[in-house]
Amino acid sequence: MTTRDEAAREAAALSEQLHRHAHLYYVLDEPELPDAEYDRMFQRLQVLETEFPELRTPDSPTQRVGGAVLDSLAKVRHRVPMLSIRTETDITPTGASAFDARVRRELGLAEDAPQIAYVCELKFDGLAMSLRYEHGVLVQAATRGDGEVGEDVTQNIRTIREIPLKLKGAAPPVVEVRGEVYMKRADFDALNERQREKIAAGQKNEKVFVNPRNAAAGAVRQHDPAIAAARPLSFFAYGLGEVSPASEGGPELATQFDWLQQFHAWGFPVATQTARATGAIELIAFHEAIGRQRDALPYDIDGVVYKVDSLELQRQLGFVSREPRWAVAHKYPAQEQLTQVVGIEIQVGRTGKLTPVAKLAPVFVGGVTVTNATLHNEDEARRKDVRIGDTVIVRRAGDVIPEVVGVAPDSLAKPDDQRGAVFTMPHTCPVCDSEAVREEGEVDYRCTGGLFCAAQRKEAILHFAARRAVDVDGLGDKLVEQLVDANLIRTLPDLYKLGFVTLAGLDRMAEKSAKNLVDSLEASKKTTLPRFLFGLGIRHVGESTAKDLAKHFGKLDAIMDATEEQLLEVNDVGPVVAQSLRTFFDQLHNREVVEQLRACGLTWEEHEPEARAPKPLAGLTFVITGTLPTLSRDDAKDKLEAAGAKVAGSVSKKTHYLVAGEEAGSKLDKARDIGVPVIDEARMLEILANGVAPAPET
Ligand code: IVH
Repeated sequence: MTTRDEAAREAAALSEQLHRHAHLYYVLDEPELPDAEYDRMFQRLQVLETEFPELRTPDSPTQRVGGAVLDSLAKVRHRVPMLSIRTETDITPTGASAFDARVRRELGLAEDAPQIAYVCELKFDGLAMSLRYEHGVLVQAATRGDGEVGEDVTQNIRTIREIPLKLKGAAPPVVEVRGEVYMKRADFDALNERQREKIAAGQKNEKVFVNPRNAAAGAVRQHDPAIAAARPLSFFAYGLGEVSPASEGGPELATQFDWLQQFHAWGFPVATQTARATGAIELIAFHEAIGRQRDALPYDIDGVVYKVDSLELQRQLGFVSREPRWAVAHKYPAQEQLTQVVGIEIQVGRTGKLTPVAKLAPVFVGGVTVTNATLHNEDEARRKDVRIGDTVIVRRAGDVIPEVVGVAPDSLAKPDDQRGAVFTMPHTCPVCDSEAVREEGEVDYRCTGGLFCAAQRKEAILHFAARRAVDVDGLGDKLVEQLVDANLIRTLPDLYKLGFVTLAGLDRMAEKSAKNLVDSLEASKKTTLPRFLFGLGIRHVGESTAKDLAKHFGKLDAIMDATEEQLLEVNDVGPVVAQSLRTFFDQLHNREVVEQLRACGLTWEEHEPEARAPKPLAGLTFVITGTLPTLSRDDAKDKLEAAGAKVAGSVSKKTHYLVAGEEAGSKLDKARDIGVPVIDEARMLEILANGVAPAPET
């Protein structure tokens, strides 16, 4: 029987250990304990707290999950108001220099006075949170609200593993750490995937979230902390609220940068991109550098924030209304915008895939004007309930094809008879009128017309002639359209039967262009096996698969005649690709196309099949995540594949190892959740060298 004192001592020791390991695991990504051991300690603490409830303090590690269901959120008056920042909407570099000039003017600096020191931060797209710690223990978390009064969301915030329940190291009597609660894109995608499954299973009250910000806000204001806990949130610290004065034990810090370092030392995540900068030129450089990284960040940002570094200068600058003069948000082009759907069209792809595309009132999003956005497929279009006339949210991030994220609430709220018709997918191809079918288990409709379908013919020709395929310079989509519509090209080999006279006789075709095209057609005849194979446009055979096939088999005939089993021996070729290749080459007309192209003079070098290298890792599946210390992810992948391993893109029960580098995110969490062994680069190299025998004890 444990006495109360013994229990208290043990609970305190466990608490301390659990805090330390949670920090190592969730914030630093450097776990020292196997998960099971962590769980064992956690459960032991729960047992002690059940036996002696007075040991269950608010900062106990067990208080992260669960808790009472709130009826309504209590109001919290902020002791130091939560301000907003002036937003510089001028997205050009001028935005940064205008801010620097303003600061210098307000401070009354002469032109030749030294440059101002700034801290440059990311502007996270989540929601602001104020976290109050008393004697190092998290006692309250509040939303910004109107800046004066926010809502108490302490229970839900406790479930965020990146937020310390207890500050590391020495803590002042009072400190309020402010920052942004947000959701990583991968966590958001996974959450929505789960939501979709729930909806498909008939759970009526579930919904799909529009964006990570929205999902994060919903989770924070959840009334049931267990639900909040199931929605993975993250946090970055960037500001200070109330703090005990130095005379009462508060830290004596002179700059924003020092505070950020203090937050980090207390156990908070602070974005690694944060940087000091001097003068406008360095602000501009930061804006540009982050602009280039933006799409690769695992979370959304909508700009950067510049802050005068010196707290003394901040004090001198003060505020205008509720915005400090010492900070500004400098935006990037928004990646989401509202616009109207003026129509929905069906596009027919090279492989006959029918894609519903929303025609939009032109809108500037992600840095370009967008008039088309994909609705992906029938299920997606129906799920989002997009109709002609609706106002929709359009997203364009990086070079990704613009997509309709969802219908704006205003449109959704309209009575059904005041909206357009519910979208239905046509059952015939809009181009050739052939039947369009949706095979079981597939999300897409496909036109069955094959090369009879002009759309597929056009796309097939453009694909074959593309730079990464056989590379016919000067064969653009307008010209292909003309050639197909005039019935001058029915199959790929027809391309090489076009003579100068035919081409020069086309509308808008100058003699010089016709001559150039004849020349580039001639030049394209000397190609390589991977280019030719890729150019055939076989479903699921992309550039890299074509390369792997060419490398493995050496000769086209060997590929055309390979059995599915033989195809499966090739790197990265799984059952879907193998079957697709077989289906393609089992059709006589496709073999004829190949023969005719050869007869037209297309040639490439062939070689003997690749010598069978030993494949010590055959049958093992790896997933790589994060930044590895010495190898790029592609190099690591090449090495593993060369040894016969499969490298997959996502973690599942079939994964044998997760190779994790720095800043590994949701894949690492998933691997731990389902018990997939996690190794580092060094261990991976050891496995490559020695096979999978266990590492010797050190
Ligand atoms: S500082 C006195 N820093 O932007 C300045 N805010 O309009 C107080 N935000 O509500 C805010 N990233 O939600 C600051 N690095 C950052 C930020 C940031 C995002 C948000 C925050 C705030 C809003 C200000």
